[in-house]
Amino acid sequence: MAENKVIRTIGVLTSGGDAPGMNAAIRAVVRTALGKGVKVRGIRRGYQGLLDEEIIDLTARDVSDTIQRGGTILQTARCEEMRTEEGQQKAAAICKKYGIDGLVVIGGDGSFAGAQKLANLGVNTVGIPGTIDLDIACTEYTIGFDTAVNTAMEAIDKVRDTSTSHERCSIIEVMGRDAGWLALWCGIANGAERILLPEEHDFDEEAIIEDIKECRKRGKKNYIIINAEGIGGSIELAKRIEAATGMEARATILGHMQRGGSPTCKDRVYASIMGAKAVDLLLEGKSNRVVGYRGGEYVDFDINEALNMQKGIPAYQYEIARELAL
Ligand code: ADP
Ligand code: F6P
Repeated sequence: MAENKVIRTIGVLTSGGDAPGMNAAIRAVVRTALGKGVKVRGIRRGYQGLLDEEIIDLTARDVSDTIQRGGTILQTARCEEMRTEEGQQKAAAICKKYGIDGLVVIGGDGSFAGAQKLANLGVNTVGIPGTIDLDIACTEYTIGFDTAVNTAMEAIDKVRDTSTSHERCSIIEVMGRDAGWLALWCGIANGAERILLPEEHDFDEEAIIEDIKECRKRGKKNYIIINAEGIGGSIELAKRIEAATGMEARATILGHMQRGGSPTCKDRVYASIMGAKAVDLLLEGKSNRVVGYRGGEYVDFDINEALNMQKGIPAYQYEIARELAL
């Protein structure tokens, strides 16, 4: 198990898909730790960079002018080697070699699984939820979601303008391979007629086609379908809809633009508080924890417990989206 000792040096890394607000979290980790007399080491390129010993000292000035920047100044990566026992042991040994007694991991569930393995090997770890997908069960909030959902919403508003002018059906694909939160929120915020979620793979295409025909009879000037990346196939779906309904249809895939851009106020503030809390937990001698936000409070959970929690799309919210598309 992780060692409960005085923390002199804290490492910080970002892992998995990047998310706006990760820089605000890094900045908070660096400045909270330095303010409490603890040295900080930045690990570049996630676990891959840890295994490659891409480790740099971070000062308060190194994180100046970063709170407003999208992406992650430490870069991020996915790393297969970290999934192996050998890789995990090597990573723990490198932490020891560099005097990293506490490690803050900013990422999603996969990254937390890596932190859990390191905690079992004696490295004190705390995770911070950073993903645009909002798909971490122990927390109501993940860094990056607010920026990404607003970016997508604004883009969809623009597509809607041209869709209305041309009286078209627009299928707009938003990110989310396994999670439909971005799709659900955009569906509600953009007043979409349909939302296709990866959690509900078997959508009824025939019913959509009938609905489009009905909507046209009722005088609707466009028909917006928000399709999650996990369902995919937007271009083919547009062709099938056009052929079956006679309504022109176009697909727009928003893609990685949703992961970039300056973080919103909400992302900056939550990231700052979570970053500070992660350091405080380590300084209190805690390890194998993940920071979260629940019921108006910043909280923390054991990583094992957090990874076993489930979070699904609430059926009520999905139904409301349908009702409002009348
Ligand atoms: P996210 O953190 O956003 O869920 P991934 O699932 O891609 O993203 O995980 C990020 C990285 O975390 C992986 O590339 C890998 O290095 C590490 N990771 C994922 N799962 C595990 C695991 N079970 N054990 C150890 N490390 C893992
Ligand atoms: O996890 C964040 C996310 O943007 C998902 O929504 C998406 O499915 C995935 O990452 C895309 O990953 P990549 O950057 O490898 O294309």
